[in-house]
Amino acid sequence: MNIDKLKDKVERGISSIKTIEDVRKVKAYLVGRKGIFSEYIDTIKSLDKEERKVFGKEINSLKVSTENRLREIETRYEAEERRKEEQASLIDITMPGKIPLIGKKHPITQTFDEIIRIFASLGFSVAEGPDIESDYYNFEALNIPKDHPARDMQDTFYIKQGVVLRTHTSPVQVRVMESQLPPVKIIAPGAVYRCDNDISHTPMFHQVEGLMVDKNVKFSDLKGILSIFVHEMFGTKTPLRFRPSYFPFTEPSAEVDIGCVICNGDGCRVCKETGWLEILGSGMVHPQVFRIVGYDPEEVTGFAFGMGVERIAMLKFGIDDIRQFYYNDLRFLSQF
Ligand code: DAH
Repeated sequence: MNIDKLKDKVERGISSIKTIEDVRKVKAYLVGRKGIFSEYIDTIKSLDKEERKVFGKEINSLKVSTENRLREIETRYEAEERRKEEQASLIDITMPGKIPLIGKKHPITQTFDEIIRIFASLGFSVAEGPDIESDYYNFEALNIPKDHPARDMQDTFYIKQGVVLRTHTSPVQVRVMESQLPPVKIIAPGAVYRCDNDISHTPMFHQVEGLMVDKNVKFSDLKGILSIFVHEMFGTKTPLRFRPSYFPFTEPSAEVDIGCVICNGDGCRVCKETGWLEILGSGMVHPQVFRIVGYDPEEVTGFAFGMGVERIAMLKFGIDDIRQFYYNDLRFLSQF
């Protein structure tokens, strides 16, 4: 019986341990039920009594010390294992933080908000109408009969006979007056549609309509309100002028120009060397429109206006291509 060989196996087994799995394997191999020690214990049964006593004692104490060593190693690896698990579940505060992507309002929405803020401060409330509009509200009730040449001013998307995508927000004027008695003091922001597409036109764009009706509303009220608006929007030094124009639903009609915000009136590419930029159409509500909605033009007067929101945003932010608003390019949009 060679005890040294057994000792050697124990040493080699223990020194081969590198992981917790190794500990378990070596344990089974040495002191397990079918391990090396049981083999030795089986063999000593065939020895005579004296030898059995000597070898038995020696093997037994070697087994006990081996078991103790293995237990100690196992405890060490188990502790290490636990430490690793704990570590893995901890938050690593040395990691760089994630910056959440915070959205912001589209420049057109920002411009809407600003226009609405200014008119709200002047006592106007907000009204809305549908984007899909009847021919009646979009044209007829605004004193633009069928075959009237003024229909050519707006390149219309027809959905079907008698139904259009509204070409302007002016139909909201009619809807509001039909639904309430004077006085009226509203603005109507919203999308409008025209079959147009180039550097200064997109097939969908936005307008803000304005309407004020009461006893004795005068052209000077229109001038006063729009002057305040322009000065709030573009600065108090911005000049504005009223230029005679024509709209079927206003009489008299005027277009409003502001001094070019790019060149300060000196003349440039944007204002086509005129020093002025057109921002809206306006006028005194035509008596025929009042009659159509059931108001008495002898009783009340009113003014109306309609402005292009993209136009105002372009001037305010210095943008030279209207299509930029709708490419959905965040590199462009996040600048505003
Ligand atoms: N609806 C006109 C357009 O889109 C703009 C306009 C002009 C609106 C005069 C008005 C107005 O309310 O009085 O071209």
